[in-house]
Amino acid sequence: MLNIDIVPCLQDNYSFVVHDTETNTVAVVDPSEFEPINNFIEKKLKKIDYIFNTHHHFDHTGGNLDLQKKYKTKIVGSKKDEKRIPGIDIKLSDNENFKLGCIDFKIFYIPGHTNGHVCFYAKDERVIFTGDTLFSLGCGRVFEGTHIEMLNSLNLIKRLPIDTLIYCGHEYTEKNLDFCIKYEINNNRLEEKKEWVISKLSKKEPTIPVILKEELSTNIFLRCDVLAVKKSLGMENSSEVEIFKKLRDLKDSF
Ligand SMILES: [Fe+2]
Repeated sequence: MLNIDIVPCLQDNYSFVVHDTETNTVAVVDPSEFEPINNFIEKKLKKIDYIFNTHHHFDHTGGNLDLQKKYKTKIVGSKKDEKRIPGIDIKLSDNENFKLGCIDFKIFYIPGHTNGHVCFYAKDERVIFTGDTLFSLGCGRVFEGTHIEMLNSLNLIKRLPIDTLIYCGHEYTEKNLDFCIKYEINNNRLEEKKEWVISKLSKKEPTIPVILKEELSTNIFLRCDVLAVKKSLGMENSSEVEIFKKLRDLKDSF
């Protein structure tokens, strides 16, 4: 069985401790920093077999080297980022499988935010770690890739089973929600969602994970092909990528 704990790090990052309870194999996804992860591990599991990095940014890899040193951890990441992920040991290619104990993970290259960005997907468990590509109600900035690449990456995630649970790298949901409400005015689902998000945050609970089905009906960046979104932007005749670029530009200054 797969057990996932959320460990808040830095200002608004999430790292995840992933435990295959059957084989007692442990991975940490995107350790932003040493201290909070180490505190969690010392109290509970006492070991880290692997670190999974979705991309090279410091707020996702900052804990790599100290955790590796203390726990003799193997660091897993994209072959494309072998020169940028600190301490990388296991370099995976697009579509490659990786076993965490008896849990099968597959990695997909999802460029856009960075060129070497990957997600870790456990199909049988219906779980995906999306780093800074897909957030709840939003998506990452397009730093290194193109808008088409980022859109294709989001569309790859869109095609997964709708009951997939999404674990993303930041708590950006509330601000993302305000953006979705502003630019998809007639989506009633967003107002309902707002109550839930505010209630979670007021209790200092994460709004993560979120189920893909829910994101498909609320996350405007997954809805660039929806006529209601195009109309809302006054861009009825624009292509999906034109809508995506417009939304990303608007969000960059939101
Ligand atoms: Fe990032």
